[in-house]
Formats: sequence, C-alpha cells, structure tokens
Amino acid sequence: MTVVTCIEDLRQMAKRRVARAIFEYVDCGAYDQATLRANRADLEALKFRQRVGIDVERRSTRTMLLGQELAMPVALAPVGLTGLNWADGEVLAARAAERFGVPFTLSTMSICSIEDVAGGTQKPFWFQLYVFRDRGFAASLIDRAKAAQCSALVLTLDLQIQGQRHRDLKNGLTVPPRLTLGSMLDVLGKPSWALNVLRSRRKSFGNLEGQIKGADSLLTLTQWIAGQFDPTLSWQDVGWIKERWGGKLILKGILDVEDAKIAASTGADAIVVSNHGGRQLDGTVSSIAALPEIASAVGDRVEVLLDGGIRSGQDVLRALALGAKGVMIGRAFVYGLGALGEAGVAKALEVIHKELDVTMALCGLRDVKEASPAVLRRS
Ligand code: GLV
Repeated sequence: MTVVTCIEDLRQMAKRRVARAIFEYVDCGAYDQATLRANRADLEALKFRQRVGIDVERRSTRTMLLGQELAMPVALAPVGLTGLNWADGEVLAARAAERFGVPFTLSTMSICSIEDVAGGTQKPFWFQLYVFRDRGFAASLIDRAKAAQCSALVLTLDLQIQGQRHRDLKNGLTVPPRLTLGSMLDVLGKPSWALNVLRSRRKSFGNLEGQIKGADSLLTLTQWIAGQFDPTLSWQDVGWIKERWGGKLILKGILDVEDAKIAASTGADAIVVSNHGGRQLDGTVSSIAALPEIASAVGDRVEVLLDGGIRSGQDVLRALALGAKGVMIGRAFVYGLGALGEAGVAKALEVIHKELDVTMALCGLRDVKEASPAVLRRS
C-alpha cells in the first residue's frame, strides 16, 4: 500500500486504476499542452520568503468566501465525467467536501444529476452551468439548481467551442464509455474500475438524460459538445441568467483584465481567473500570471478566485499572495477520487490543508487571511 503523502501519489494510483480514456480526459490539456504546463511552471517559479522568529503556534486556515465560512480557501471545481472515475463520484466528492467544510461544484456535464447530489448530501453545493443551444433547457437547469437549493451558480464562459484534446480523439472517448478492442485490453488490467464503474447505475450525463434529444446516444464527447453547446453565448446573456438564478453568481473562465472589468460590471459576485486547466486556448498565459493585474483591477468589486495547476497547499498560498480570495481544485481531487473513491477526495483535501498550514507557518503567517505579496520574494 502506498503511503499517500502528496497529490502526485493519488495521481499515480488513479492512473493505475482508472480506464485510460477517462484518466487522460482528466489529466491532459488542449493541443501542445503549453498552457497546461505553464500553469504548473509559473506557480513553481514563485518563491516564498522564509521568515523566522515568529510565534506560529496558533494558526488558522479558515476564511469567508461568498458569505460562507470555509475550513480553507479552496473549492472543488466542476469537472465533467467525474462519476466515470468512480461510481457515484459526484455524490462522493460532494460528501467529502461537505465533511471537510469546503464547497463542491457540480458540473453540467456530470454523471450524477443535480437531484442525485442534492439527495446524497446535507449542505448546499454550487452548480456550474453550460449554456446549450436549447436555451429552454439551460433555463430549466437553472431552475433545477434553484430547487436543489444550490448556494451559487458558476457560469462557465470559456467553453462555447471546445479546444481540441488530442488524447480524447485518439482514445475515441465516448459517453457512455464504449468498449473497443483497444480499450478492452486496457480495462482488462483495471478490474476494480470496471467492476465499479461499468456496473454503476449511471454511465451517461445525469443532468441531460431524457431531457435533450440525442443526449443519450453514443457520441464522442467532442461531437456532443459541438452539437449542443451554444457558440453565441455573450455578455448579454449574463443578464437573463443572473435574473433567472437570483442568487450568488460566479463567472468562470476570465483571463484578461478587460473581460474581468466587464464581468465585474455585470454585478456578478465572483470571478474565477481560469484557462480551464489548460484545456481550452493553448498558448495563452497561465492563470497565476494573469491573476495580479485582474485582482488589482476588480478585486474591490468581486471576489477573485483562481484555478489552473493547483496541486498543493503551497500553490494555494501562492495564489492568495497574488490576490486570490480562494482557489478551485479540479484534477487534484479527481485523482483522489479515481484512486480511492470518497476517501481519496478527503485525502486530497487533507494533504492540501496540511501543506497550506505548514507553509503558512514557515512563512511566519498565522492567519491565511493575512496572505499578501509580502509572502513571496520579489522576482
Ligand atoms: C469540460 O469542461 C472539459 O474541460 O472537458
């Protein structure tokens, strides 16, 4: 048994256990993956200031985000197909987040439905919205999230058109998963995944089943997105979405300061500085590189979150130091889920929390809310 000490351990375990097409869907980025790599490289390049001679016995990672008190400034990001990493994966991840005291975000492209997750949890979760060509369906998703008492709506703005992920095409990724000769050989070596996921109740998009024509049929994910997602989605749409929703609104996928200013002027409560984990526009900047300018332009009007490359508590502190109020983790928790199910998501959160706590202390910080550029050495 591996002693899990870091997120990379969970990644290696997930890689061994989960069907290749699903693992690579999670793990990979768009095109040459230059932006995927930049997300990590630019975080790693930020150096802390080691401070000594400070009493750091009492420390706190607790913080407020969107009016909610959290155990640490981390939320689980929306990740499509989560429930194909482990049966009922969205419910399990939401439960782990709930027990830890951080928000879980359910993706529109989840396997478990909004109602499944609401039925399997006690506390409100966040719901991420993709806008479909069928606007009536998009509106009904908002209504369902409201009925499920979701505490925030996360509107994704950076995926009207999908960036190509070579591995998904090469693997012939379909939903529900299709067994081909190639995938059969892979899955034969992954009996624990096969017994668990292939026998689970849901294997397709839980929010869409029976709702959208063609949603149940076997298509590659790429074909599916091209057919259903609305490429006309524009800033004008934020108005009706905000009005219909009526609660906390988070705009996700902002990477440019001009867009950040428009986002703030919509009256949204928060934005997520994001390049979709390097899965969309390859060749653009890392999220962490885009953060400081955006945080200083709009940080007084909206709560600024960041995702992209966060794999440790050190990374969380780096993002906070550069102006984020919190971060979202996607791959980091899905690796945990694919490795060990609900316990793996809990483990991912524990690992990141412990790293954050110790890193704060070694930087001479007692309270995570005091993170500032002073934590980092000037480059
Ligand atoms: C969808 O959100 C994706 O990144 O695949």
